[in-house]
Amino acid sequence: MEKEDSPLFAEWASKPEVFGEYNPLHQMSKAEAEKVFESPLEMKPFFVEKKDGSKIGFVSHFHVLHVAGKLLEIGYSLIPSERGKGYCTEAVRIMVDYLFLSRDTMRIQACTDTRNLASQKVLEKAGFKKEGTMRKYFFIRGEFRDAFLYSILREEWKEPKILTKTTAQSKHQ
Ligand SMILES: CC(C)(COP(=O)(O)OP(=O)(O)OC[C@H]1O[C@@H](n2cnc3c(N)ncnc32)[C@H](O)[C@@H]1OP(=O)(O)O)[C@@H](O)C(=O)NCCC(=O)NCCS
Repeated sequence: MEKEDSPLFAEWASKPEVFGEYNPLHQMSKAEAEKVFESPLEMKPFFVEKKDGSKIGFVSHFHVLHVAGKLLEIGYSLIPSERGKGYCTEAVRIMVDYLFLSRDTMRIQACTDTRNLASQKVLEKAGFKKEGTMRKYFFIRGEFRDAFLYSILREEWKEPKILTKTTAQSKHQ
C-alpha cells in the first residue's frame, strides 16, 4: 500500500466486519492511517490483490520491540466475501518469502485469539508452529482473551515457496 491508499486502509481498519470478531475494535481516522505510511517504525501493510486487480484485504508486517531481537510480526484481514478461498494462506506464504528474502530477521511471528480457527489454519498451512498460549493477551469486546503465539524460523522456511529472489529484491524498499 502507498500513502494514497490510506483512506481505504482507514475504512477497513474501522469496520468491525473486516477485522472480524477475534480482533479488538478499532477506529482509525484518515490522518492516523496516513501516519502508518510515514513512519518506518509503524506497521507496513500490503494489499492482497486478485489477478483482476480487485483489492480484497491486507497482510502487514511490523517490528516487535525487543532490544536483542531480530523478529518481525505479521497480521492480516480479508473482506468477508473473499474468505475461505485460500487467498490469505497464499498471501501469508508470499509475505514469509518476502521477509526472509529481504530482511535480516530470524523469526516471523503471529498472534491469534485461541478461538480464531481460520487464522490458525492459515498459519499452520503457511508453515508456522504453535509456540504456546499467551494468557489474557487481547482485550476484545469487553473481556480479556487468550492468544496463541505462532512462529516460523528462517531455518524452517529454508527457501522461497512462491517468490523468487529477483522478485523480492526488486520490491524491497
Ligand atoms: C483469518 C482470515 C484472514 C483467513 O482468511 P481466508 O482467506 O479465509 O483463509 P484461507 O481460505 O486461506 O484458509 C482458511 C482455512 O480455515 C478454515 N476455516 C475457515 N473458517 C473456519 C472456522 N470457523 N473454523 C474452522 N476452520 C475454518 C478454512 O476451511 C480453510 O482451511 P482449509 O484450506 O483446510 O479448508 C479471515 O477469516 C479473516 O479476514 N478474518 C477476520 C480477520 C482476522 O481474524 N484476522 C486474523 C487475526 S490473527
